[in-house]
Amino acid sequence: MSELLDCEHCTACDLALTRQRVVISRGAAMAPLMLIGEAPGAQEDAMGQPFVGRSGQLLDRLLLDAGLNPEQDLYICNAVKCRPPQNRRPKRGELTACRPWLDRQIDLVDPRVIVLLGATAVESLLGIKGGMTQLRGQWLSWEGRVVMPIFHPSYLLRNPSRAADAPTALTLADLRVVQQRLCER
Ligand code: URA
Ligand code: SF4
Repeated sequence: MSELLDCEHCTACDLALTRQRVVISRGAAMAPLMLIGEAPGAQEDAMGQPFVGRSGQLLDRLLLDAGLNPEQDLYICNAVKCRPPQNRRPKRGELTACRPWLDRQIDLVDPRVIVLLGATAVESLLGIKGGMTQLRGQWLSWEGRVVMPIFHPSYLLRNPSRAADAPTALTLADLRVVQQRLCER
C-alpha cells in the first residue's frame, strides 16, 4: 500500500488544516470485502486508524457475530481521510477532494464486495442521496462490483434497541448476507 502514503501529506481540502493524522485504513490489504465509512472521529484522528472508537468497537462486534474477522477478511476505510472539526458531516467539496484517494484504495484492494456504512459513504461512492432505511440491505452494482449500503454504526449507538426489527438486528442480518455472498464463488 505504499502508493497511498502520499495521502499522509495531502492538502487538497481544508480538513488538512485541523487534522492530527491522516487516517487511511485498517484490516487486510488484499481483502475480498471493503467497508467504507464517513470520516475519522477524535480517536481515529489521534491514533491514525479508522473505526477505533465506540462506533468501531460496535462494528467489530457485529462483524465477528456475522462470521467475519475484522483483521483478516476485510479492509476498512472512510470517504474522507481527515477528521472534520466537531465531527460534522464532510462537505460535498471535501468528499469530492478526497474521492481520488478512495478510488485508489478500491483499485489497490480490488474487493469483490463493498459495504457502504451510512449515507455519506453512499453519497461519496454512488453520488446518490438516498434514505438509508430504503437502501440498507440492497445489493447495488457499481463499476462491476457488488455494493451493499448498511446503517452506520453510530446510528446503531443512537438507536440501541435489541428488537428483531431494530437497526442493530437489521445490520447484523445484512452483514450475514454479505458473509454468505463472500462464500459463494
Ligand atoms: N465513524 C466513521 O465513519 N469512521 C471512523 O473511522 C470512525 C467513526
Ligand atoms: Fe486530502 Fe482527503 Fe485529507 Fe482532504 S480529507 S486533506 S482530500 S486526505
